[in-house]
Amino acid sequence: MLNMVGLSFVALLLTVGASTLERAEYDYYKYHPMDEISSWMAQMEKDHPDVVTIVDYGKTYENRTISLLRIGLKTEAKKKAIWMDCGIHAREWIAPAFCQYFVRQILQTYKTDAKMETMMTNMDFYVTPVLNIDGYIYSWKDSSTRLWRKNRSPGPSGDCYGTDLNRNFDANWGTVGVSFNCSSNVYCGRGPISEPEAQAITYFVGSRKEDFLCFLTIHSYGQLLLVPYGHPDFTASNYDELMKVGRGAAEAILKVHGKNYTVGTSPDVLYANSGSSRDWARMQEIPLTFTFELRDNGTYGFKLPENQIQPTCEEAYSGALHIITYAHDKTFNGAAATAAATLWTMLLAVGVSGANLM
Ligand SMILES: *[C@@H]1O[C@H](CO)[C@@H](O)[C@H](O)[C@H]1NC(C)=O
Ligand SMILES: *[C@@H]1O[C@H](CO)[C@@H](O)[C@H](O)[C@H]1NC(C)=O
Ligand SMILES: *[C@@H]1O[C@H](CO)[C@@H](O)[C@H](O)[C@H]1NC(C)=O
Ligand SMILES: *[C@@H]1O[C@H](CO)[C@@H](O)[C@H](O)[C@H]1NC(C)=O
Ligand SMILES: [Zn+2]
Repeated sequence: MLNMVGLSFVALLLTVGASTLERAEYDYYKYHPMDEISSWMAQMEKDHPDVVTIVDYGKTYENRTISLLRIGLKTEAKKKAIWMDCGIHAREWIAPAFCQYFVRQILQTYKTDAKMETMMTNMDFYVTPVLNIDGYIYSWKDSSTRLWRKNRSPGPSGDCYGTDLNRNFDANWGTVGVSFNCSSNVYCGRGPISEPEAQAITYFVGSRKEDFLCFLTIHSYGQLLLVPYGHPDFTASNYDELMKVGRGAAEAILKVHGKNYTVGTSPDVLYANSGSSRDWARMQEIPLTFTFELRDNGTYGFKLPENQIQPTCEEAYSGALHIITYAHDKTFNGAAATAAATLWTMLLAVGVSGANLM
């Protein structure tokens, strides 16, 4: 009898211990290896089953599953969508950290903030924390691979590895700012979307492109907001709008911790390039497509210290929210205005028929 009580007591302690462990706060201000990010994704879905769904939408070269979190409030209406991907370049560790922070923020905010609740009712957020999973895992292997950028597929002759996924999209592929030598960090691959990771985004986003109001792809470093196009001979039809919204986002960023982000096309503020996901998305008629180049401006570069994760995420969240809010309001306040106009017309019609009755 005493033994039974003793055992139950131990069992109780174990249970309490396990649930405490389970509830331990995920540390958003540390870099996490891929297995921890995958567990975090599963935990998000478990903790918010009514709002978060994991969607698998492709495989990497090494056959790992590429997944995103779809986040939104359930509704009967057809929803618009926001795209965000992180970790297309393996070494840019601050990017996956930002995607996770972004997810945490919107999931916390919508419960108390009516604007976020409205946006999550009208739109779904599609967030890929790590697109280039093989490369990300390789960048965690040891200090000699920490600065790996590309995916891990072998080149044509098998003596070099990796395609730059952000040169592999079907957007003026292979024209400027690329190499055809697979030893290069900007090797653009054997052809447009030759790489499974680029195919995954192309097919997933391409199959519902009219839903997406916004396509945000997160990189580091340089403190830049890049608008299409990377090719110097082409200008986006809504370039002025993109620059206006981008400058608004940069102002929002500046207000948070005083960091200066520069806004412009790649050729204007960085370098010309082709085959980027941002350019491809704009060519699919997704109106608001931006590349974020997060902190810093060269002091630590890709090895941004962990004590800068929080401020970097806070300011970038503010910038992203500016763009997302603009995209939402342009579509849905416009819709509200249309609904009001329709109602007004109906009232007038009733008025007219009323007059006829008299
Ligand atoms: C991925 O899986 C396919 C199908 O099972 C297989 O043919 C291929 O060799 C695998 N690739 C790698 C790199 O393991
Ligand atoms: C590709 O680049 C590597 C490294 O820069 C170089 O050694 C090699 O000769 C290049 N190959 C060709 C075909 O240019
Ligand atoms: C921000 O950068 C731009 C150009 O890079 C410069 O003209 C401007 O003075 C800077 N502003 C601040 C507040 O540092
Ligand atoms: C980043 O640093 C470079 C060189 O110091 C400078 O020219 C540039 O204006 C800086 N950019 C920002 C956004 O502060
Ligand atoms: Zn990058």
